[in-house]
Amino acid sequence: MEKQHQHNEINRRGFLKAGAGLAATALFMPFGTNKVFGAINPVNANVSIPSVKLNNGIEMPMLGFGTNSLTGEVGERSVFDAISVGYRSIDTAHVYTNEEAVGAGIKRSGIDRKELFVTSKLWVDLSGYEGTKKAFQTSIDKLGTDYLDLYLIHRPRGDVKGSWQAMEELCKAGKIKAIGVSNFEPHQLDELMSYAKIKPVLNQIETHVFFQEEVLYPDLKKRKVVHEAWSPFAAGRNNIFSNPVLAEIAKKHNKSIAQVCLRWHYQRGVVAIPRSQNKAHMIENLQIFDFKLDKSDLETIATLDLNKTQFPEWS
Ligand SMILES: NC(=O)c1ccc[n+]([C@@H]2O[C@H](COP(=O)([O-])OP(=O)(O)OC[C@H]3O[C@@H](n4cnc5c(N)ncnc54)[C@H](OP(=O)(O)O)[C@@H]3O)[C@@H](O)[C@H]2O)c1
Repeated sequence: MEKQHQHNEINRRGFLKAGAGLAATALFMPFGTNKVFGAINPVNANVSIPSVKLNNGIEMPMLGFGTNSLTGEVGERSVFDAISVGYRSIDTAHVYTNEEAVGAGIKRSGIDRKELFVTSKLWVDLSGYEGTKKAFQTSIDKLGTDYLDLYLIHRPRGDVKGSWQAMEELCKAGKIKAIGVSNFEPHQLDELMSYAKIKPVLNQIETHVFFQEEVLYPDLKKRKVVHEAWSPFAAGRNNIFSNPVLAEIAKKHNKSIAQVCLRWHYQRGVVAIPRSQNKAHMIENLQIFDFKLDKSDLETIATLDLNKTQFPEWS
């Protein structure tokens, strides 16, 4: 695996700035990386989150914060806490009905907008050229921002072509820094690419130790489209947090199961966006850049793959 990654373009200077431990992890990065996101703050002073360079040159943190189901006051407080402990990438969506809460959390944090990487997603029933332009404006109004770092088509349904055209125009106008998709299969990416003038930068798909995406994972690598994992902990399903195989690996490294899972995503070059409303968990989930899973750990984790969704109700 290391040999394969030696061919990847890695800008080591950014990592050297972030310290030797972080530099070592660069060997696992799939694309060029030269920026480190992070916070100097009292609770998590040493957090530095490496970034991945998207295929349009924009930098995105390899670890972000998921917000599905974090609505209202809980949503606002969670986003505020997440930013305060060092997260700089926040993932939301129209369909989560929490863009206002996420926006309020961002505002309350007092952080400079330029320090953040904000993603939202277009829901299916708003698809099409006009619908997308309107939906985008509604999303940024609710979030209290005048641009998005990343806007994704949430599911490959509805008028994808019309939506993509609108997103390309918004991108060219500087209202969106990067555009991508979510839950797209290879044939759906092929279709998109048949008319796209701007290539998607990323595909956000269900990925965790029980569904390792062994078809899409290499396919996205080949396309130079970043693989982003939704539900990096399978949302706790299949008793992931008490899995004995993961517990053994966690014990060996003096880490938690959550940290092993996130480190596994990171070493595969997959961006992860864990959700938590528990500040201690948020902090714990950032502490993954000071250890390394070895070959035998990775081989063992590979055996956990069930190769099927843990969310059949969404298929
Ligand atoms: N594009 C799509 O179709 C799609 C679909 C689903 C999700 N997503 C995105 O992906 C994000 C993450 O996925 P998810 O929300 O489904 O779930 P997830 O991140 O896989 O898991 C969240 C669960 O893990 C628990 N947890 C977090 N850190 C923990 C720790 N250190 N120790 C123990 N438990 C921990 C949380 O509980 P606590 O709150 O108690 O910590 C919560 O119950 C979403 O929030 C959303 O932004 C996208």
